[in-house]
Amino acid sequence: MYNTWGVILAAGKGTRMKSSLPKMLHPLCGRPMLWFVLEAIRNFTDRQVLVVGHGSERVREYFGEDLIYVEQEEQLGTGHALLKALPALPEEGKALVLCGDTPLLSEELLRCFLQHHCQKSGAATVLTAFLDNPQGYGRIVRDTKGRVREIVEESHAAPEQKNLREVNTGSYCFDLAVLQEHLPALPKNENKGEYYLTDLVPRLLQAGHGVEAYMLEGDESRSALGINDRLQLAEAAAALRERINAGLMLEGVTMIDPAAVYIDAGVKVGQDTVIYPQTVLEGATQVGEGCVLGPGTHLVDTAVGNGVRCRQSTVYESRIGHGAVIGPYAHIRPGTHLDEGVKVGDFVEIKNSYIGPSSKVPHLSYVGDARIGAGVNMGAGCIVVNYDGTRKHVTHIEDDAFIGCNSNLLAPLTIGKGAFIAAGSTITRDVPSNALSLSRAKQEIKEEMARRFLKKKDQ
Ligand code: UD1
Ligand code: CA
Repeated sequence: MYNTWGVILAAGKGTRMKSSLPKMLHPLCGRPMLWFVLEAIRNFTDRQVLVVGHGSERVREYFGEDLIYVEQEEQLGTGHALLKALPALPEEGKALVLCGDTPLLSEELLRCFLQHHCQKSGAATVLTAFLDNPQGYGRIVRDTKGRVREIVEESHAAPEQKNLREVNTGSYCFDLAVLQEHLPALPKNENKGEYYLTDLVPRLLQAGHGVEAYMLEGDESRSALGINDRLQLAEAAAALRERINAGLMLEGVTMIDPAAVYIDAGVKVGQDTVIYPQTVLEGATQVGEGCVLGPGTHLVDTAVGNGVRCRQSTVYESRIGHGAVIGPYAHIRPGTHLDEGVKVGDFVEIKNSYIGPSSKVPHLSYVGDARIGAGVNMGAGCIVVNYDGTRKHVTHIEDDAFIGCNSNLLAPLTIGKGAFIAAGSTITRDVPSNALSLSRAKQEIKEEMARRFLKKKDQ
């Protein structure tokens, strides 16, 4: 096959984003927009060259060192950006040149594009699309025989050219030998004082080289979307979300309303899991089979087993065992591991804790830095007091212990196996296995006293 290199132009500031974050790092479904472009070409290009400039350290930090980076210190246009990449590219072979802000172009589509270029005789092929609203894109101007003649930017287009609906997606295939010869001679665009890569088209034609167009048609044209502002960012995110959700549904996941389910790229969900609306699955989250998630559930970097039920709850950086039941309104914070069959109910917060198989924390509790065994029951309103104002301490609760309602367990502390804590106790010392511990004010009874109080109230 051909020696094919990928080049992604990603140095621009992204002024129209109005952001302190470099445009290329603005996330879509949990990944920077540039990530999608890179993923789309990784598998079929020999090497990938990133032209970076604005925010380049942050871009390099994210994408790591197995790419070739070229710095474009001053952003003098797309032609100038590619010129900077030339010394890093071979003398011969093919280059697939893309913009870092067109993340919807899929691998399949770009493979077809490259294949088309390789089959034709042209030295360059432009990927074009038909848009109902071509505003903001360079227009493809063809001659009377339908051949590409030039690409005119919106700002320089004559009124009749503005009506053209065929646009430049900013994606090109080049024969490297031709590119190496002609790009260095590309002049500045007089209108803007920048080097426009699009101006290479008439120059190649003048030099007798063929320039082809590969057109996206119908629905494919939506993939041409270039992100210049936050409206387009939201549009691209919606399109990617639709793809992710469709992919999962075809793999056996039920979504009650896919338009109201937000899943990051790379999240895994097992067969027969049902997802209700307003559910958000982010980061490195993996969900098993036969779960029911939502409504209103937010999982971040969390591994969920099979048959888990989780509604109206938030879980961060945690592990949830098979058959666990969570929510409504639970908050599970980083470092938590709920083992199989654990129940965490309403208005419960758990932080950095292990909870053993079939244990229950059903209502209104806080559990922090605790190691809880199997079959433990925490009554309503139990608080693990892990913080003494200076340091955090660990609480151990052994298998089958029963913690009565509204107890405070002051860490560091161990509650032995099978121990029983009476409701309303504040426990400050270890409780041995099978012991009962009770620590609360003694109840007093004053006969007939109630009448006096009630009378007073009536007066
Ligand atoms: C560009 C094309 C336009 C096309 C559109 C598709 C030109 C002159 N125009 O316009 O025909 O319809 O893309 O989305 O090429 N960049 C650099 N260095 C620079 C300037 C830009 O690396 O000096 C990068 C940007 O980071 C971006 C890409 O090149 O990823 C395109 O630049 P942008 O300014 O967004 O061009 P558009 O105006 O969208
Ligand atoms: Ca753009």
